[in-house]
Amino acid sequence: MALPVRKAVVPVAGLGTRFLPATKALPKEMLTVVDRPVVQYCVDEAFEAGIEHVIFVTGRGKGLIEDHFDYQFELDATLRERGKTAAAEQLDAETPGAGQVSFTRQQKPLGLGHAVWCARDIVGNEPFAVLLPDMVMDGEPGCLKQMMDAYNEVGGNIISVQETTPDLAHKYGIVATGAEKGPAFEITGMVEKPEPGTAPSNLYINGRYILQPKVMEILSTQAAGAGGEIQLTDAMLNLMESEPFYGVSFDGRTFDCGSKFGFLEANIMLALKNDDVRDEVRDLLKSLP
Ligand code: UTP
Repeated sequence: MALPVRKAVVPVAGLGTRFLPATKALPKEMLTVVDRPVVQYCVDEAFEAGIEHVIFVTGRGKGLIEDHFDYQFELDATLRERGKTAAAEQLDAETPGAGQVSFTRQQKPLGLGHAVWCARDIVGNEPFAVLLPDMVMDGEPGCLKQMMDAYNEVGGNIISVQETTPDLAHKYGIVATGAEKGPAFEITGMVEKPEPGTAPSNLYINGRYILQPKVMEILSTQAAGAGGEIQLTDAMLNLMESEPFYGVSFDGRTFDCGSKFGFLEANIMLALKNDDVRDEVRDLLKSLP
């Protein structure tokens, strides 16, 4: 029986250069999709999947994220004074409970692998999830829940993947696939941004992982890779030599909110699911020439 996955690491220390100037003072994870910051989607997804503790790896200028997940006394009191009890209660319900979140710091943005490693002491010696907040998922149940269900059957390390088209494969991390195993399939290799025409499959890694703690040991001595950054993919490739990796095809849609188009796409597609604005957005889209 696989050990339970209780903790999730959410790295939020990157510079968000693709969204300048919006991200000059505002963390890119706080950009809003419809009515909630990007990072809240992945925290909701983590708790929905049964995660008990979310560990944020933050950096300079990311203090707003900590405030966002805190109880806002003045706001709560004012909403209640003005009779907006439902709004106050909704905020309350969406705020993580005492001790359910931790914040640690990545002093320099040395790469995703390094950011994950910064959480090693809080994670401890147990399997954990990693959720990249700029990948916003739309699925029922959520992406991590789908992965957890597979993990409970097959154990090991799990990577969520989604299909792309051959002409776009060079933009992503792509997996090589092996035999099917229950709700998952074996992953036999991974390549970051393959040269056009060389991708081993059309399945790209969409920003959700369940990893065994040995990856932290590997990261502690991991040299910088592509782009001079300490890459999580390199550490996973190393771990793959001694531990099984499985892929789970996400049944849903991924929006890459780290890119301008993905962010706009998420806003439009999720607005079409939002009761307050659905009809107006649909009319607007229909009216376009
Ligand atoms: P990205 O590479 O998409 O984020 O990392 P970035 O570097 O902030 O963005 P651009 O490319 O400059 O626009 C994916 C996630 O990993 C975090 C980011 O905050 C983002 O949530 N990250 C990345 C770190 O926490 N530390 C790093 O050193 C790099």
